[in-house]
Amino acid sequence: MLAAYAARTDADQPLNALQVGELDVASTPGGQQTPDDWVEVELRAAALNHHDLFSLRGVGLSADQCPMVLGCDAAGIGPDGAEVIVHAVINAPGFSGPDTTTDPRRSLLSERCPGTLAERIRVPAANLIAKPAELSFAEAACLPTAWLTAYRMLFVRSGVRPGDTVLVQGAGGGVATALILLARHAGLRVWVTSRSAERGERAVGLGAHAWFPSGERLPERVDAVLESVGAATWSHSINALKPGGTVVICGTTSGAEPSKAELTKIFFKPLQVVGSTMGTREELVGLAAMLVATGLRPVIDSTLPLTAAADAFARLESGAGFGKIVLTAGRN
Ligand SMILES: NC(=O)c1ccc[n+]([C@@H]2O[C@H](COP(=O)([O-])OP(=O)(O)OC[C@H]3O[C@@H](n4cnc5c(N)ncnc54)[C@H](OP(=O)(O)O)[C@@H]3O)[C@@H](O)[C@H]2O)c1
Repeated sequence: MLAAYAARTDADQPLNALQVGELDVASTPGGQQTPDDWVEVELRAAALNHHDLFSLRGVGLSADQCPMVLGCDAAGIGPDGAEVIVHAVINAPGFSGPDTTTDPRRSLLSERCPGTLAERIRVPAANLIAKPAELSFAEAACLPTAWLTAYRMLFVRSGVRPGDTVLVQGAGGGVATALILLARHAGLRVWVTSRSAERGERAVGLGAHAWFPSGERLPERVDAVLESVGAATWSHSINALKPGGTVVICGTTSGAEPSKAELTKIFFKPLQVVGSTMGTREELVGLAAMLVATGLRPVIDSTLPLTAAADAFARLESGAGFGKIVLTAGRN
């Protein structure tokens, strides 16, 4: 079947490791690990994430796992003909905790088992949720990774309340655009940083109350910082917080080793540093319901057919996109 996959890994030139073409997914190392009782979903739309670039670089994916179908996000047609969204978190057999993100042996689609950038996907039946009719397949495909992560950061992990001020580091990313829209609709004052005035202004157009150049001192300190950039913005995030404030971190696009850990400020102010990763199936259901109730929709940068996955990845890597890059099933 047609798929976009990591033929190998390449730490320096990740796009060189990408292949788009026919692949016998069942015979790949990941396909051979897929349990027989998983169900098949016919792909309608899938969205890219920075995670897919990390996989091509060999972060979380080793050469002996290749070829590996990329992709965590999908919406499509389930085994009974219903429209579904795929939850990408795969729990280890036997895991039973209420918070599935704390399973130490969990993985995401495309890490151990084939991902979503293929005409047909295999997933556990429990990972399917109903796609609301109000959402298009492309909109629904944006939810399982970036939007679910943003939803959990804000509503489960940050401790903020309506009226609080949050700072979103980065304006145009999939997680950042989701955070801006969700926070604005939740009654928060939303501040954003960006490396580009054009992207900062676009964030204000989405509903942010103000934008600031990356690293610039803010007019006042904030209740929570929502961090996905990592090393480049870490010190600014710590300095931006009120005493007792919370930084919620989900990613390290610019690197995982900041020049300063800011340990003294963290204990002296004192601050809370909270990790957050993906979200539970129930939170994905809640997110989809919030979009139906509010009319809020993901920002989609561009929509391309799966055959043009190489162009989509080039745009993701360039950082020029604003919002989610979506691939649709089909060859045109
Ligand atoms: N833990 C999880 O479950 C989880 C889930 C989803 C994503 N993530 C992680 O979260 C991160 C963002 O994901 P994404 O898919 O939204 O990626 P993305 O679309 O590539 O977003 C990149 C964002 O980072 C900002 N940025 C990049 N480099 C920067 C720098 N040097 N200084 C300041 N800002 C910079 C950009 O802001 P401007 O261009 O506006 O400046 C943009 O908003 C990734 O590291 C990803 O792996 C983690």
